[in-house]
Amino acid sequence: MAQEYRQIAVSEPKPFVKWVGGKRQLMQDLENNFPKQFTTYHEPFLGGGAVMFNLLTKKPQLSCNVSDFNSDLILAYVTIRDKLGKLIESLENHSKNYHKDSAEYYYQVRKQEPKQQIEKVSRLLFLNKTCFNGLYRVNKKGQFNVPLGRYTNPNIVNKENLTAVSKILQSKKIKISCRDFEAVLGDAKKGDLVYFDPPYQPVSSTANFTSYTHRDFTEDDLERLAKLADKLHSKGCYVLLSNSNSKTVKDFFSKKYWKISSINVNRAINSNAQKRTGHKEIIIKNY
Ligand SMILES: C[S@@+](CC[C@H](N)C(=O)[O-])C[C@H]1O[C@@H](n2cnc3c(N)ncnc32)[C@H](O)[C@@H]1O
Repeated sequence: MAQEYRQIAVSEPKPFVKWVGGKRQLMQDLENNFPKQFTTYHEPFLGGGAVMFNLLTKKPQLSCNVSDFNSDLILAYVTIRDKLGKLIESLENHSKNYHKDSAEYYYQVRKQEPKQQIEKVSRLLFLNKTCFNGLYRVNKKGQFNVPLGRYTNPNIVNKENLTAVSKILQSKKIKISCRDFEAVLGDAKKGDLVYFDPPYQPVSSTANFTSYTHRDFTEDDLERLAKLADKLHSKGCYVLLSNSNSKTVKDFFSKKYWKISSINVNRAINSNAQKRTGHKEIIIKNY
């Protein structure tokens, strides 16, 4: 079965989950800021992987070393790569039940805590496609707590994209792991590109804050990140970082070799469409 799905890959791979902080909007600005040449691509806050998929579409043979702290998300990448046929079967089952009674089925699945790999991943993908605003958010106990979204016909089984993702991830040059971002220091070498897209610092005390894991990204984490970025700079790596236009971030990256530029973006996290107005984000790099 898995073989059969691998053969129908036709489209370009795109993120298979909607993830807060997804970078599809910022892509052109990021591309404009990539170094012309680099050896291995490292992305230690992978999330939905928009940047990685974009790079791999152009260079399928690129060496990539990508990771995220969210173990459910990393399990999804690995399962799509290795067990696509079984995963699609399970998603088709979700889709069939959802179309019988969406609310009842959604809350029933949300309550479940499956332990098996396929069921865990198909639950994550199903909830992501059917929940409110396509958010991934967990409470302090790590439980997914987003209500049902209002969709008439959500694309629960996007076979074409899942197949394209599975196919591209088959490359022996792509390493995917679940770990804290600091581990990248042991892997990155001179001439490599390290792109950091950490959970954004709130720009004000009232700014929306959404948790991707049961642990928040604190100012101490940001300080660890800035120190790590300095070490990677000393090693001769190209370092690129995106974040909110926050003074705290700019203060941590105040050394001379950090070049900070600001870009205009249209943010879609806010549930109130009228509040989704343009604002500035920053890109920091050392080259
Ligand atoms: C802003 S998102 C990345 C968005 C991604 N670039 C995209 O396009 O979807 C930040 C990611 O950092 C991860 N994360 C949070 N704390 C982390 C840590 N200490 N180490 C590694 N990853 C972490 C979260 O799980 C989340 O997926």
